[in-house]
Amino acid sequence: MSKIAVFGAGYVGLVTGAAFADLGHEVVIRDVLPERIEALRAGRVPIHEPGLDELLARAGDRLRFTTDVAEAIDGAEFLYVAVGTPPTYSGDADLSAVWTVVDELPADTGNAVVVMKSTVPVGTGAKVRKRLDGRGLTHVGYASNPEFTAEGTAVRDFMRPDRIVIGAFRDADADAVAELHSGIDAPIVRSDVASAEMIKLAANAALMTRISFINEIANVCEATGADVVKVAEGVGLDQRIGKSFLRAGIGYGGSCFPKDSLALKQLAANSGYHFQLLNAVIEVNELQKRRVIAKLQRHLGSLSGKTVALLGLAFKAHTDDMREAPSIVLAGRLLSEGASVRAWDPVADGSGLAGVEIAATPEAALAGADAAVVVTEWPQIAQIDWPTVASSMRNTLLVDGRNMLDPETLRAAGFTYEGIGRAAAEPSS
Ligand code: UGA
Repeated sequence: MSKIAVFGAGYVGLVTGAAFADLGHEVVIRDVLPERIEALRAGRVPIHEPGLDELLARAGDRLRFTTDVAEAIDGAEFLYVAVGTPPTYSGDADLSAVWTVVDELPADTGNAVVVMKSTVPVGTGAKVRKRLDGRGLTHVGYASNPEFTAEGTAVRDFMRPDRIVIGAFRDADADAVAELHSGIDAPIVRSDVASAEMIKLAANAALMTRISFINEIANVCEATGADVVKVAEGVGLDQRIGKSFLRAGIGYGGSCFPKDSLALKQLAANSGYHFQLLNAVIEVNELQKRRVIAKLQRHLGSLSGKTVALLGLAFKAHTDDMREAPSIVLAGRLLSEGASVRAWDPVADGSGLAGVEIAATPEAALAGADAAVVVTEWPQIAQIDWPTVASSMRNTLLVDGRNMLDPETLRAAGFTYEGIGRAAAEPSS
C-alpha cells in the first residue's frame, strides 16, 4: 500500500485516484476548485464516466479530497500530476497548471516521486527535473506515466490497459511506479522520460491518422460507389492493419485528439520539422466535419429556413463531453446557412450552444424537421421507431454521420439515407 497525492480532479485525475484507491492505495485528490472538491466530498461525481461512481463509493477512507496542497502531500510517496494542458493560441500546450503544481511543492517535500500523467510535450520532464533541482528538491524523483484511457471506458482502460508506460531518470523511481500498478495485468514498457512522453503523443497521432485515413477512403467510396463499412471490414481483417479505429464518420473530436495533434505539430515545428502527415490528418478532420452540410444541401438546396435535427451532441457516445465535438461545428455552420437547429442528447448539456433549441427526446427534435443528422453514436438512436418518426417530419432526409443505422431499413421507412462513405442511392459520376 502506498500513499498517493493526485493533483487535478478532472477526468484523468479522478479515474487515476479512484483506480489507485481500488488497488488498495491511500489517495488524496487535490483540486483548486473548492466547489468541485465540495461536490466530491458530498459524493457527487461531477463527470459522467461509467464505473467511476462505483469506484468512488467503495473507496471509503482510502480516498480523500482537498484543496490544500500540504494536506495532499502529507506523507505522500507519489505526487501524480493530472492537470489540464490545453492548447494555447499558438497550438503549443499550456503548461501553466503543471508549473503551478511543481512550484507549489514546499521546500520540505519528502522523498516523493512526481509522476506526470498529464499529456505534455517531449522535453517537459527534463524541464521539471531542472526546476526541481534548482529549488534544491534533488531528492524528489520524476517519472512520466502517460495515460491511455478513453472517455467512457476510462475505468476499464485503467484497470485493463494494453500496456503501462513508465519513463524515469532513475531506475528506482521507475521501479516504485511499476510497483504501484501491481494488481494490474499488463506489459510494462520502461523507457527514458522523453520517449515515454513521445509514446503518448505518437499513440494518439497514430489513432487520429487511422481515422483521417478511413475518412478519406470513405470520401472516395462515396464518389465511386463503394461502401466504406465493407471496405473497413475487409481491410481490418489483415492482422498487420487491425480492425480498430477504422470507423468512418464526421471526424474526431474530444478533449485529447484535437489538442494533442496541435501540440505534436507545434512540438515538431518548434524543433524545425514540418510534420506533413500530421498536418494533413488535422486538415482532413476539419473538412470531414463540414461535409455533412454539403450532403444536406445536395438534397434540400438552400438550408435557409430549413430545420435540421442533430441527434447527439457529445463528441462520442457514453460521455457528456462536448469539447471539440463535431456537433459544435455543425450547429455553427447550419445556423450561418440560415437553418434552424434542434438537438437532442441523452447526457451532454447543449444549453451553451447559442441559437440551438434543445429537445428532450429524439422524437421531439425530429418532429417537423427537414433533415436528421446522426452526430453521436448513442444506442438510443438505433431504437427510434423510424416509420413513425418519418410521418412526423416535414422532409425525410437522414444523414448518418456514424454509419450506425441500416440503410435498407431506413429507406424502407421512407427515408433518403446518406451515410459516410456508403454508396448513396446513385454514386456521383
Ligand atoms: C483518446 C484515446 O483513444 C485514448 O487512448 C487517450 O488516452 C485519450 O484520447 C487521451 O489522450 O486522453 P478519447 O478522446 O476519450 O480517447 O476518445 P476515443 O474513443 O479515442 O475517440 C476519439 C474520437 O475519435 C471521437 O470523436 C470518436 O468518435 C472518433 N473516432 C474513433 C472515429 O471517428 N472513428 C473511430 O474509428 C474511432
